[in-house]
Amino acid sequence: MTTLLHIDSSPLYGRSVSRQLADAFVTQWKTSHPGGQVLARDLNATPIPPIDADWIGAVYTPESDQTPAQRSLLALSDSLLAELTTADEYLIAVPMHNFSVPSVLKLWIDQISRVGKTFSYADGTPKGLLVGKKATFIVATGADFAAQPHLAPYNFVEPYLRALFGFLGVTDASFLTAGGTMALNYGTDRETFLAPHLQAVREQAQAA
Ligand SMILES: Cc1cc2nc3c(=O)[nH]c(=O)nc-3n(C[C@H](O)[C@H](O)[C@H](O)COP(=O)(O)O)c2cc1C
Repeated sequence: MTTLLHIDSSPLYGRSVSRQLADAFVTQWKTSHPGGQVLARDLNATPIPPIDADWIGAVYTPESDQTPAQRSLLALSDSLLAELTTADEYLIAVPMHNFSVPSVLKLWIDQISRVGKTFSYADGTPKGLLVGKKATFIVATGADFAAQPHLAPYNFVEPYLRALFGFLGVTDASFLTAGGTMALNYGTDRETFLAPHLQAVREQAQAA
């Protein structure tokens, strides 16, 4: 059975472009994967604390030496990691915030980037441990970076996610970007704006 992990990170729910496109992807994916399982993780509804010195200390303590308090500190991270290892495919919906990923997504990334779990330096070089996974990122940005190449240096979303997930072993990554969503605040019809993006995500879900 194929399992899709669907992660949302926009706080805007019903008004969110990335959430709407990700929902369309999931609907199509379910049709194309009868019997497939979807794990949904809404990062705006998941309280994730920032990592601190105690958490880092627990991560770098061999499992056999961890105290009950350290194991409890890592419980949330362990459960988020279990979702990543169980799933064969990832769908990650990302609104651009301040030229980068939203803070809830960064908090999640800090929980799942764990030595010995998702990456290793065992032989002196970094090795990603999330192997054989396929990821689709659906990104929504207010500015249209594709239409305005001079803005490229401000777009840290795709380069960052490609680098980070590649480091963790996820090299099969596709990005679908709905750029220029700010036009929706200035009278552009939402249905018309979204139509080509909905088609693209449905095609991607069918091929996934
Ligand atoms: C807090 C915040 C910060 C934003 N920062 C940027 C930005 O740096 N660059 C940009 O092009 N759009 C920015 N936007 C616009 C969003 O990227 C845009 O509204 C996008 O559609 C958000 O995805 P969503 O609709 O799924 O929430 C920002 C929006 C918010 C709410």
